[in-house]
Amino acid sequence: MKATKSWFVVNPKARTSTQMQHPAKFPEELVKRFVDFFTKEGSWVLDPFAGVGSTVAACKEIGRNSIGIELAREFVEIGSGAINEIEGSGQHHLLQGDSMQVMEIIDKHFNGQAPRFDYVITSPPYWNMLRKSRGGNDSVHKERAKKGLKQHYGDAVEDLGNIENFDEYIDSMGQLLGRLTPLLSDRAYLTIVVQNMRDIDGILRPIAWDLAKRLSEDYDLRQEMIWCQDNKRLGCWGYPSTYVSNVHHHYCLILQNRV
Ligand SMILES: C[S@@+](CC[C@H](N)C(=O)[O-])C[C@H]1O[C@@H](n2cnc3c(N)ncnc32)[C@H](O)[C@@H]1O
Repeated sequence: MKATKSWFVVNPKARTSTQMQHPAKFPEELVKRFVDFFTKEGSWVLDPFAGVGSTVAACKEIGRNSIGIELAREFVEIGSGAINEIEGSGQHHLLQGDSMQVMEIIDKHFNGQAPRFDYVITSPPYWNMLRKSRGGNDSVHKERAKKGLKQHYGDAVEDLGNIENFDEYIDSMGQLLGRLTPLLSDRAYLTIVVQNMRDIDGILRPIAWDLAKRLSEDYDLRQEMIWCQDNKRLGCWGYPSTYVSNVHHHYCLILQNRV
């Protein structure tokens, strides 16, 4: 019952120095919470925006099978090293590739004998927000720059975080996630973790809401859950001239395969 409450707090643990190489990792605790609820031991889980493999790592720890697909080779290498060190069970692979080609990637990996995926959990690029420095002196963006850490995922044209136009980004996300349907078990659930974001012109870009609407073309939208972070530093962004809130929550869109 607790897992069905529509909001929850997960405070990410401090990241290791290798995990810090990725600008926007989500916590394994968050993945475990959902995977535990939506799947059984031995189920197959897919993450098409796998980053440094948090989904794969969490699935290994709790005895599911998993595949993560990530465009940036550097993140695949970091993630694969860490996953190899985890003691756990099941089959786990972090694959390098463009998830627009998800069918081909999965087919090739399993030599035409791919399992059906029982659950998808993922967090895509939040549009091109990592490329837009929005904060004052102490923003995370600026701190990462000072430490010489990556502030965005990379320059590849296939990276959905590099699309300039907002509507085009929402549509590409819809296309990519829509391509997962033939790989899924009947009535499989998906959890997409996103955030609405304030653009540099001060306008809120409703990524979560627009994406929910676009994804409803291919899936049944079942629920939204709100992941709250309660250990993030507060910033004094717009004061005293502009209203700018501290956004410490993400939307977890829960969708279901129609067939
Ligand atoms: C928000 S991050 C995901 C982080 C991941 N949940 C983790 O914990 O490490 C989004 C990821 O999507 C990747 N990405 C962007 N476009 C992609 C594409 N077309 N195919 C596969 N991965 C892509 C980016 O390189 C980035 O690592």
